[in-house]
Amino acid sequence: MRNYTAQLGATLTLDNAGERTTVDLYSKEGLDLLSNLWIKSAAEHRLMYEPTWLGRPIIQFPTDIVAIQELLWKLQPDVVVETGVAHGGSLVLSASILELIGKGKVIGVDIEIRPHNRLAIEEHPLKHRIELIEGSSVAADTLVAVRRAIGSAKSVLVFLDSNHTEAHVLQELELYSPLVTAGSYIVAHDGAQAWVWDIPRGKPEWKVDHPLTAIHKFLDRHPEFTSDPHYTRLGITSSPDGWLKKRVETKNDGVE
Ligand SMILES: C[S@@+](CC[C@H](N)C(=O)[O-])C[C@H]1O[C@@H](n2cnc3c(N)ncnc32)[C@H](O)[C@@H]1O
Repeated sequence: MRNYTAQLGATLTLDNAGERTTVDLYSKEGLDLLSNLWIKSAAEHRLMYEPTWLGRPIIQFPTDIVAIQELLWKLQPDVVVETGVAHGGSLVLSASILELIGKGKVIGVDIEIRPHNRLAIEEHPLKHRIELIEGSSVAADTLVAVRRAIGSAKSVLVFLDSNHTEAHVLQELELYSPLVTAGSYIVAHDGAQAWVWDIPRGKPEWKVDHPLTAIHKFLDRHPEFTSDPHYTRLGITSSPDGWLKKRVETKNDGVE
């Protein structure tokens, strides 16, 4: 790895096909530009496929893994529901924090749980905290199974990380948000798909079809949810605007 000398007054210039943007490296704009470009370059190099958590591949940026851990520790939920299992790394992450808390379970939903992934999850030391449901996240019978698995849990947190089209994420937000308990969150991952349509391996359709617009449409319709910037404050995230907190009603009829 190379170190670049960059003293006070250094600037950063992005030259995009002749259109130039120059900012002070150590300004907030400099940090924002670097973070945004890191996301583009990291996505190009598929760095989100690199991390593992307790042996299972987890498809997240390291900063989001830290933020997920912060949210789990703060909420101490009885149940975590996650749509999109893949290799099971994000289920194991939630299960590991629940294990330290000493209660709770994770319900993982995926349209296709590949046999080797199912086996690895079922043989994992944290398997006793994980329940798998195979089916489309928006199918009626999947929702019945998820509700049954939640039972009478007092605190429910939801992560949406399955199909990242606007239509699917909006449908998931509508179907899973009623399961979220007051003060808890529904996290819609991968809004940053909207920011990587322009990278060499990006797809032109991502420019218009992505979770961010689903999140914004959902927030317009659901004043009981608000986007919490705390969990994206590190600037590097695949889930901008995606950490949606369900408001808690207060005695004075206000909300917090
Ligand atoms: C990005 S991966 C999930 C990554 C995982 N949450 C993690 O952090 O490691 C997306 C997963 O969503 C699943 N998927 C795609 N469409 C789905 C649907 N309609 N319902 C449920 N799961 C779906 C895919 O099979 C895939 O395993």
